[in-house]
Amino acid sequence: MKKVKLPNRPFGPFPTMLVGVDVNGKPNYVTIGACGVVSLENVLYISLKNTHHSTLGVKENGYFSVNIPSADMVQKTDYCGVVSGKTVDKSMLFTSFYDDLGKAPMIKECPMNLLCKVINSVPMFGFEMFFGEIVAVYGNEECLSAGKLDPLKVNPMIMMGSSYFSLGQVVGQVFKEGVEFKKTQNE
Ligand SMILES: Cc1cc2nc3c(=O)[nH]c(=O)nc-3n(C[C@H](O)[C@H](O)[C@H](O)COP(=O)(O)O)c2cc1C
Repeated sequence: MKKVKLPNRPFGPFPTMLVGVDVNGKPNYVTIGACGVVSLENVLYISLKNTHHSTLGVKENGYFSVNIPSADMVQKTDYCGVVSGKTVDKSMLFTSFYDDLGKAPMIKECPMNLLCKVINSVPMFGFEMFFGEIVAVYGNEECLSAGKLDPLKVNPMIMMGSSYFSLGQVVGQVFKEGVEFKKTQNE
């Protein structure tokens, strides 16, 4: 196996998410790859450029939603990442809905939606990392199998390099593959 040196830049894989915020009372949606977990606590982080229209909304309301688009939403998802709510009204692209709390719009067409309350934020390289406590989660009924959200039905997109990829097939089971491998190791 020969290694080659590559540029010192992240290359992915990144999750493909649509963040929803109300800006001046109107829903705005922005595509992000900078989104993740901190631990298994009910907290997510997102990282938004200071100059984005959406960033205003998160600062204004202290809430944001993270919506997982499925692969068949690739065009509208990419569109939300190339035009700004400063000049284009992105509120009509999707059907917006709200939790009883209100606070941030969510996208009906996305199989999974997480409403988050900002609990911390950290400025970083012209971006703001917002840490959000998950206060409500919604799933589309047709994406459930045996009462649980089914990843293959959600069919999220992963970004890597300059492409979006859909999930593909199951290749192993969490906490089982490692246990199987452990059995083959000499103690
Ligand atoms: C695939 C993709 C991933 C992106 N990831 C991020 C990100 O993680 N953080 C960010 O601030 N902008 C990200 N962007 C750029 C914003 O989506 C883009 O600048 C958008 O137009 C800003 O919209 P707004 O001004 O309405 O908030 C990404 C764009 C694309 C296409």
